[in-house]
Amino acid sequence: MKNSLINAQEQGAEIRAIRLPDFHLLPCKGCLACVLNGEPCRLDDDMHELWEHLQWADGVILSAPTYFLGPAGIIKIFIDRLFEYSLQLGTLKQRPGAIIATAGLREWDPFTLPMLSMLAGILRLNLIDRFIAYRPGPGEVLLDDETMQRTELIGKNLVAQIKEPSLEVTIPSPSHACPQCGTPFFQFRKDNLIECQLCQTSGIFEQRGESVSISWSPREGEDRWSPKAMAEHFSEWVLRTGPVYQKLRQEVERRIPRYGKIPIVSRSKKGI
Ligand SMILES: Cc1cc2nc3c(=O)[nH]c(=O)nc-3n(C[C@H](O)[C@H](O)[C@H](O)COP(=O)(O)O)c2cc1C
Repeated sequence: MKNSLINAQEQGAEIRAIRLPDFHLLPCKGCLACVLNGEPCRLDDDMHELWEHLQWADGVILSAPTYFLGPAGIIKIFIDRLFEYSLQLGTLKQRPGAIIATAGLREWDPFTLPMLSMLAGILRLNLIDRFIAYRPGPGEVLLDDETMQRTELIGKNLVAQIKEPSLEVTIPSPSHACPQCGTPFFQFRKDNLIECQLCQTSGIFEQRGESVSISWSPREGEDRWSPKAMAEHFSEWVLRTGPVYQKLRQEVERRIPRYGKIPIVSRSKKGI
């Protein structure tokens, strides 16, 4: 990612590198006060600062190493915390972005691109590239000429795209993967109608003898992360669960004491 940033800077861009582990970021506790009561998040950490950086950028590169088949855990913590901004996500400016991940080994990374693609979808990034660089050691990708060339191009193209958003870009997707988000996970809906599990783009699955093919039909602005679909999800589902929950709350609270006897283990060492 840093190679892309340096190259973007050489094209005249102002750059900022945000390393999530350097920020104080607490996991969402699921109280729902942010979306149901419209309150600011009760967690006292740096999420608001991160949100400001996100709003500032005209282009965003998402990057993560692969740990246990997916992106490093802090990525999911960050995604969960975006819940507070659910109603503002649709107002984020559309801007170009890229995903640059690392992993030690091919076939040991099934969740890395899907999870980062989900984040890109939530942030409404128009991706100009999305790939994983494979090298086992920390920083070892710096020795890989192909990765360095590709990341250099990402930096340059990102700036070009910011200056001229109408430039056409086609990004490669693995075979059979959803062309909208690059995810290879799909489910059958009815007969041979399939749906991408991540962005809900639909397609037709066909098998002829031993060979299979998928004809995907991405529809502009119709996927799960489109402002329209996000707004619908929040107004027609999430927000409606609030009043229903209020009615059930007493009953939920009546059932809780039974579990209060379970000893909850807390940290033995303080201040580390
Ligand atoms: C905790 C941990 C788990 C890892 N799990 C995987 C894995 O499941 N699949 C994989 O391909 N690489 C795995 N790796 C290797 C890293 O993805 C690899 O070191 C990567 O090149 C790191 O690149 P970077 O630190 O230069 O970004 C793991 C590394 C660590 C530290």
